[in-house]
Amino acid sequence: MKLSTSNGAEGRAPRVFVHTFGCQMNVDDSRRMVQLLTGLPENGRDGASGRAEVFETAASPAEADLILINTCSVRERPREKVRHVLGRYSALREHNPGLVIGVTGCVAAQDGEALFARAPQPDFVLGPDWLTELPALVAEARRNRAAGVESRAALAAERPVLEHEFVEAHPIAEESVTAMVTVMKGCDSFCSYCIVPYVRGREVSKPCAQVLREVERLVAAGVREVTLLGQNVNRYGLDLRARRGGAGPSRLEADEPLFPELLARVAALPGLARLRFTTSHPRDLSPALIDCFGALPELCEYLHLPVQAGADSLLARMGRGYTRATYLERVAALRRRCPEIHLSADVIVGFPGETEREFRETLTLVEEVGFETLFSFKYSPRPGTAAFRLADDVPESLKAERLAELQALQERRTSQALAAQVGRDVEVLVEGPSRTARRTGGGQLFGRTRGNHVVNFDLPESAEGVPAGALTGRLATVRLERALKHSLYGRVSAYEEPE
Ligand code: SAH
Ligand code: SF4
Ligand code: F3S
Repeated sequence: MKLSTSNGAEGRAPRVFVHTFGCQMNVDDSRRMVQLLTGLPENGRDGASGRAEVFETAASPAEADLILINTCSVRERPREKVRHVLGRYSALREHNPGLVIGVTGCVAAQDGEALFARAPQPDFVLGPDWLTELPALVAEARRNRAAGVESRAALAAERPVLEHEFVEAHPIAEESVTAMVTVMKGCDSFCSYCIVPYVRGREVSKPCAQVLREVERLVAAGVREVTLLGQNVNRYGLDLRARRGGAGPSRLEADEPLFPELLARVAALPGLARLRFTTSHPRDLSPALIDCFGALPELCEYLHLPVQAGADSLLARMGRGYTRATYLERVAALRRRCPEIHLSADVIVGFPGETEREFRETLTLVEEVGFETLFSFKYSPRPGTAAFRLADDVPESLKAERLAELQALQERRTSQALAAQVGRDVEVLVEGPSRTARRTGGGQLFGRTRGNHVVNFDLPESAEGVPAGALTGRLATVRLERALKHSLYGRVSAYEEPE
């Protein structure tokens, strides 16, 4: 297919700016959208003209010819922001009447055409199942804008499972040394509070061969650490197996693996230094998956294992499918297998009917497990979910109080965990200049440990003459000297020699 470098405003290539809300899934979708628009030939498509415009990325919304708002609806707060940014970006049309604005992501899936009912209106709405159609939709919206015709295209409903098409991931311009690779879309868990299964649809796994191709390509572009991504990657491959032999698409290969096997195959790819995955539903954390820790040298000693609550009664009302005891058993099994594993989790406070006793059980569970990091949220009712029918009866002030108490408990634990690292020599994957260095132009670098702690560090004096940038993408051994609030500081004692 021929790609044209057609014009933006003043005889230059058109520019795209993406504003991303929400989880890593959205972050990855935004990258795939940029990839499609910035024109890798095998992915570029334009249904109408057969020629796709090749975009460049815009440094700011004011310079853009196309703005994509990639939205999240997991709680009310991020949802509210959509109208706000839509208003802000629409105002840019005053100076740039050709500006096309698209709403993508989970609010697009949830609201669809209803997004055209209130001002300001986007030019198009595109749900997460339809990324491959983005170039065509953009081309149509740009033609309409140029002709002064109002356009209101919406592709938002869930795509039939058998027609689901993943964008084949290619490295994009701003690739760093760590990357995410989506291995499945959707969620079939239907936790009672959660909108994700409604906006992201049914689970569909990306064929293993495609996952391997994508990781290989990223590694060839300099990526050293990959995080395999899905709402619940522990169920990877089950859909493909269930469909095998039935009316499934021909892309099904004979030996589609389940998740532990996928991990092993990815880990075996040459050049990949580190592997992680997220998210992992505790109910589906199998012994085979637990065994991967410690068995696959590339798999980092870190797991995000959202618990949501500590009381069995609450876990049952949330529809989580495990008890406190089961969760604790799985944590114990993980630690037997891999004693140095770091754990993080998500917790919701103020779920309908949450009693003081139930909340205390969340606190004791958090204390008992000792998470390195905790992400905690106030319950936010989501229309259409099972819990939406329950009264949102924990007052806002009590939700806030409980959240603060939980967060204070976690802050103490996080400080202890960071302090316990001081004095150790740890492996850090160097990601680039630290935030301080980016501000001041100094030589400090940053990276993460295998346990996912952020480390800022300086080179030893003996490394004088080695440009700091040469270490990006290398594994270094860092002697940790100080614990800060949410990170560590240290000094490099050894590193992989730059080639
Ligand atoms: N698939 C992932 C992520 C889901 S969304 C998982 O299963 O963990 C990320 C987090 O948002 C959830 O883990 C949960 O803690 C929180 N969350 C989801 N729905 C929520 C709601 N209605 N109110 C408050 N927090 C919510
Ligand atoms: Fe939501 Fe539960 Fe699915 Fe996670 S597993 S996305 S919390 S429904
Ligand atoms: Fe993610 Fe938000 Fe959608 S958390 S899946 S972007 S609702």
